[in-house]
This record gives sequence, C-alpha cells and structure tokens, in this order.
Amino acid sequence: MIFDSHAHYDDEAFNEDREKVINGLKDKQVIGVLNCGSTLEGARMSVELSSKYDFIYSAVGVHPEYADIVNQETIDELKSLANNLKVRAIGEIGLDYYHEENPHRDTQMAAFRLQMELAQELKLPVVIHDRDAHKDTLDILKEFPQVIGTVHCFSGSVEFARECLKLGYYIGFTGVITFKNAKKTSEVAKVVPMDRILVETDCPYMAPEPNRGKRNQSDYIKYIIEKIAEVKCKTIEEIEDATTFNIKHLLKINK
Ligand code: NI
Repeated sequence: MIFDSHAHYDDEAFNEDREKVINGLKDKQVIGVLNCGSTLEGARMSVELSSKYDFIYSAVGVHPEYADIVNQETIDELKSLANNLKVRAIGEIGLDYYHEENPHRDTQMAAFRLQMELAQELKLPVVIHDRDAHKDTLDILKEFPQVIGTVHCFSGSVEFARECLKLGYYIGFTGVITFKNAKKTSEVAKVVPMDRILVETDCPYMAPEPNRGKRNQSDYIKYIIEKIAEVKCKTIEEIEDATTFNIKHLLKINK
C-alpha cells in the first residue's frame, strides 16, 4: 500500500487523462495522495480534486517560484480555502535559489514567512520546498517552533537532515533516490528514523527508475519503496507500513 505525500495532479500534464489516471490508482495499491498546490489556481484545483476523490487530500500554498504574488489578499484566500476539511497542510512553500529567474531572495523569504505564519495560526503542517537554500530554509523553520511538516524531495546532506529532524520535521523521498548518481540521498535515507520517513512522487516530475523521464504517477512509488527498503535493510512491507502511518499521522487522517 502506498500513500503519495506529494503530488501535482492539478498540473496540465494530466489535462488529457486526469480522471483515468486518478481512478486507476486505487487498483494499484495507492490508498492516499496529498495533492499540493503551487499557485493560487493550483491550490483551488487541489481543493476541487480532494473534494471529488475520497482518497485525495490537499495542501494549499504558493511555491517560491511565484513568491511575488504573495500578499495579504493571497494569504486570505489560502486561509479561506483551508476551511475545507480535506485541506490538511499548507504547501508547497519554501525557497528556491536554483533558478536565476526566480523572485528575489528577500521576496521569497517574505512569502515563506507569511505562509509559515498562516500554518501556525491554522495549526496545519507545512510542505517545504527547498532547493539550494538549505541555510535560509532552516533559519525560517526555526522561527516557527510550533510548526512541523515535511521537507519534500529532500536534497540536503545528512547533517541538514539531522537539523530538520531535530525540529520535528519528516523527510520526503522522491524518485531521485533510485537514480544512479543519488548516493547522497541514499545516505540520508539510511539515517532518517522509520517514524520520520515519507515517500512521494512530485508527479508529473521526478519519475523513478525504470520510468525516469516519463510522466510520473503515484503507483511508481513502489520503486522508491524498494530502494529505501534496500538501503535501510528493511522489508518492502515495513517501509510501506511506516510511510503510510507517518503521513496519516502528520495529516491527522484517522481512517
Ligand atoms: Ni512539488
């Protein structure tokens, strides 16, 4: 059984066959999906998807790439979307210093802080996007000690993972862990305790081997689980059980 802790089924890559893909997931051991918005439009659509499908939950937030649209009005809309019972997190939010064309770092940090404040106010966990911004991300997480969540598509070092774990965060692994050049990610998976590990697609991106380069979907997580089982010397079942339990616990899903 698989619970995808980070997906984007609102993405245009699914426009042609969204219903078919989502309806097919249940026959492929997928028992839950957290769909994460990246824009306001994505957040709205995420809420729509989670209203339509019982096994889909949603996170609402604005990705750092679009940080320049975040103002009080944006926060108010996210807050009203979060009234929906299937909204279980704020995300994805964070910092992305990788792409030069992204908004200025100060703009990204301001948008990140506003959304962390919202999560704190609503007592919701957060879905963190951090790319090439480990230090600033960590500093901001530390400003909100009551908030926890997941550091999605974890790309940091073992030391950085330990810092995030200390703050109570979960660590999310994508298909990257199955790539040949992903030694660092495997090292991280080795040290993350079983009660803090999550699996995710980040679909339509990041498809694991042997489907690397294709459009990703939640059942492909089986390859990620296989790889984590291997590096942690656990059974596939143990990794499935732990990752499912962890995300349900984080999102307060009782069924
Ligand atoms: Ni994502």
